[in-house]
Amino acid sequence: NPGEPGHGTGLDFDPVAPNTLDAVVVPDGYEQDILIRWGDPVLPGAPEWDFANQTAAAQAKQFGFNNDYCGLVPLPGQHGRHRERYLMVSNHEYTSENYMFHGWDPDNPTREQTEIAWQAHGLSVVVVERDRRGKLEVKLDRHYNRRITLTTPFTVRGPAAGSPLLRTNADPAGRTVFGTKNNCAGGVTPWGTILSGEENINQYFANADAVTDPVARARLARYGFPAGATERKWERFDDRYDLAKEPNEANRFGWIVEIDPLSPHENPVKHTALGRFKHEGANVIIAHDGRVVAYMGDDERFEYLYKFVSDGKYKPGNSRHAREHNKKLLDSGTLYVARFTGDSPAAEIDGSGRLPSDGEFDGRGEWIPLAHNDKSLVDGFTAEEVYVFARAAADVVGATKMDRPEDVEPSLKNRRMYAALTNNSERGNPGKEGATEINPRVRNRHGHVLELEERRSDNTATTFSWQLFLVCGDPAADDTYFGGYDKSQVSPISCPDNVAFDSKGNLWISTDGNALDFNDGLFAVPLEGRERGHVKQFLTVPAGAETCGPIIEDDFVLVSVQHPGELDGASADNPLSHWPDGGDSQPRPSVVAVYRS
Ligand code: FEO
Ligand code: CA
Ligand code: CA
Ligand code: CA
Repeated sequence: NPGEPGHGTGLDFDPVAPNTLDAVVVPDGYEQDILIRWGDPVLPGAPEWDFANQTAAAQAKQFGFNNDYCGLVPLPGQHGRHRERYLMVSNHEYTSENYMFHGWDPDNPTREQTEIAWQAHGLSVVVVERDRRGKLEVKLDRHYNRRITLTTPFTVRGPAAGSPLLRTNADPAGRTVFGTKNNCAGGVTPWGTILSGEENINQYFANADAVTDPVARARLARYGFPAGATERKWERFDDRYDLAKEPNEANRFGWIVEIDPLSPHENPVKHTALGRFKHEGANVIIAHDGRVVAYMGDDERFEYLYKFVSDGKYKPGNSRHAREHNKKLLDSGTLYVARFTGDSPAAEIDGSGRLPSDGEFDGRGEWIPLAHNDKSLVDGFTAEEVYVFARAAADVVGATKMDRPEDVEPSLKNRRMYAALTNNSERGNPGKEGATEINPRVRNRHGHVLELEERRSDNTATTFSWQLFLVCGDPAADDTYFGGYDKSQVSPISCPDNVAFDSKGNLWISTDGNALDFNDGLFAVPLEGRERGHVKQFLTVPAGAETCGPIIEDDFVLVSVQHPGELDGASADNPLSHWPDGGDSQPRPSVVAVYRS
């Protein structure tokens, strides 16, 4: 029945053709607006953006750089059919100073440039309101609008809060951290807060080689902290970025953070119960018994998929009491990591990506518990060590090394979890793990999308079945698979990064790093029935950009256009994109709204 969830209802647009334009391209019959871009005012009193004369004080009030995840929370009293006002929360994943400053000298960053970068990281919260035509516009709201940056205090919560591993000279209690960084993807919780993943945090901390204790050294290596200076050289301006001086500061990043946009004066939270790794993001579903389950990916080659199951149960409703209860659900529970097995003979998994004789890359798996609150379930690790060095704990229990787990999100319609495994150019290389049924291609350039169904659709279950829903790439190639759909009818898709769902239960996928030599974009695909696997491209983003943060509402789509013009040889002195402002302007990361005309 095409009216049932996930069958393709609402996906009646004509797909956008692959291209390399310096533009956002939407289907015929749709139109687009820039909602907000780097440097636009967020707080009342923010100065107008002035590329040549940036200051940290201005940036602290303006939309940050390289917006990634985008989340929408309806404002209270707006729950009718026509919700008019939202809080929009954007992650500002990272800064690229060579695109931000004329005459950028990577060997000699100035203090002002560095402090601008600190204020350009973090998150922005803005009120978004419909105008009379139904279009969204940003409001400079005095109460709700907020910038969260690398100088905003966060409260550390959960079983590792206060651990000696988190104590520093500036915070001997190990419970308050200034800032969040490399916030990649995220999710809106059922209680209306935002979760955001601190991802590639290793690049910000210098001098891992100055740490001499062999255990501490091995842990730093497991997370990829560099020897010597960092490329950013922030350690010149703040000792906390120097592991020789503050060896524990790095342990205070790499968490899932939670922001309650409805409580603008409340400290955001770092959730230690969800483990520390290169968090892409986290998405929560309420299980049948009321406990909440967060699914998470660790985005690096050969890293793992995790989930967290709360001890407490979700309280429905928006009362203050219910919200305060629900905002504590991620403080206690069990952290798990995934192990996958395939059901086809190993000899049929030859690394080529061609389907085995049973016609599916599929099988079973289990969630291996790592820790439950103050109880470690991993030999040789205390519970605090499990949380702070989750990667190392997961190594011990034999978790499955995946092809870069990016966004992981459960469908609220079918309760299955969908994970973007974006690519892994090193699978099968000498000294590296080869293909298995769950990651079936060596030197996997285009990635795949995993569909995981928990036993009896119970999201708290410890066993599951799985199949690869998409094996991405050129549909004409014999190493691609589109959910069993006729491959002559689908759009090419490469390097899935973010996943989202529309209200009809269809899956939407945004891409980063298209290895088919076209621009990245946003795709929609039904999950059920005859249309399952019919991938159609909804939009493309400008050259050099990735598409992220998609939000799919019934009458609009929002996408984050991150790092437009990030192309070989480009810089602020030689911009190779002039999106979105045109002329000879600098490219500016932005949120784009798309409407039906
Ligand atoms: Fe920031 Fe995993 O992409
Ligand atoms: Ca199989
Ligand atoms: Ca991402
Ligand atoms: Ca990305």
